[in-house]
Amino acid sequence: MNQTTPRTNDTAARDAIDAGVFRARRAELARRMAASGGGVALVATAPPRTRNSDVEHPFRPDSDFHHLTGFDEPGAWLLLDASGRSTLFCRPRDPLRELWDGLRLGVEAAPATLGVEAAFDVAALDEQLPAMLRGQSAVWWPFGVEDLGPRVQGWIAAVRRRERDGWRAPGTQRDLQPLLHEMRVRKDDHEAQTMRRAGAISAGAHARAMRYTAARLRTGAPFVREYEIEAELLHEFRLHGASGPAYPSIVAAGAHACILHHAAGRAPLHPGELCLVDAGCEFDGYASDITRTWPASGRFSGEQRALYELVLAAQDAALAQTRPGARQRDAHHAAVRVLSQGLLDLGLLDRSRVGDVDTVIETTAYRAFYMHGTGHWLGRDVHDVGDYLSADEPAVEQPDGQGGRVVRPPSRRLEPGMVVTIEPGLYVRPGEGVPERFWNLGIRIEDDALITATGHELLSRGVPVKPDEIEALMRD
Ligand code: GLY
Ligand code: MN
Ligand code: MN
Repeated sequence: MNQTTPRTNDTAARDAIDAGVFRARRAELARRMAASGGGVALVATAPPRTRNSDVEHPFRPDSDFHHLTGFDEPGAWLLLDASGRSTLFCRPRDPLRELWDGLRLGVEAAPATLGVEAAFDVAALDEQLPAMLRGQSAVWWPFGVEDLGPRVQGWIAAVRRRERDGWRAPGTQRDLQPLLHEMRVRKDDHEAQTMRRAGAISAGAHARAMRYTAARLRTGAPFVREYEIEAELLHEFRLHGASGPAYPSIVAAGAHACILHHAAGRAPLHPGELCLVDAGCEFDGYASDITRTWPASGRFSGEQRALYELVLAAQDAALAQTRPGARQRDAHHAAVRVLSQGLLDLGLLDRSRVGDVDTVIETTAYRAFYMHGTGHWLGRDVHDVGDYLSADEPAVEQPDGQGGRVVRPPSRRLEPGMVVTIEPGLYVRPGEGVPERFWNLGIRIEDDALITATGHELLSRGVPVKPDEIEALMRD
């Protein structure tokens, strides 16, 4: 056991914390705070939470806190002032608690390991904070974090109580999230590398799930249950050092694929049915988010393949819009056009009732089969932080995606370093006028794209996406 770099929650197979990476991020945030009037920022990571009895939930550090520290123990706070000085409050070493719960970094080792200027016992937070806020022009904290507001108010009130001693309380509270989340939306090289790793592990897990299912059915099993497939995913995630899934794995057998977020359950997947798997691991704090849809027995039927190829064509069209300078929403518009045309061509939408492709788009008739967006930011959070609209540009009237119009700023432009998912789908529930041969087919294809200087890099293509290649993988 390495006593010099102890960590309690070493669930990820990464090496020692690279303090320089996190120091640079804190310096950048401090620079942005200074440019916005200065002050001091507070960011916390949650204490352990009880699950039941004396059992705790597995701990996952707060995304903002981890982004600035790389520190993955519970119950810690970071203070960063606009001059760039950072102070950590963390749990002290405690031989008895460490015997039960695992090693702690401790106060003494924190500055050298994390590159912070000072560290204190978190038990001293209430006592020390007022003095540290004294004389600061503003306190920045993430307004979205529950329970933080009353504590900040309490510390500011404690400073005010000392006004007769010449203490001056911060005059304003500022939301840290816009500043910090704007940094998080563009990934640096360290993050891109971590996300490549997350994508590769998740792609391997999807391939494993396909192979497992084909092998089980080939050797005579009448069906495979959703939870068995989930188990294959989890096995592969942990085998390669991911902390676990980045979100509850969706494993949808047959008609369950038409439930967008169907959690893996007990349902049997039979030969002849499709399986939709939307699953990604979290590796060193970063999510991946991949969906593949494949035939249980390894061969697509005619209808399954027709619908699959349409969704794949929609993804290709969306990927062609996934490049610097394009707007984030362009991918969705491109996918919707391909899907709408295909729904007319396959007879899922009746031209005599819904009109031509432009009318289908205008009236959003396609939403009967495609009711979600084509992508989102991806990063530490699966639906990652960052603005989707370009607030600096004038608002314009545009379709609201629900058949109406809305006046709002345009979708923001993609830039190198951003990561987006591209995830078109089609979901055919039984209904009047819907050709029966397509009933209960649900298909989604989702990949993760890192925007580069000239286009994009797909982080998730370690698992095949073309139908022939899926069939080949399941055959072998
Ligand atoms: N896995 C959730 C999503 O694709 O957005
Ligand atoms: Mn997604
Ligand atoms: Mn997904």
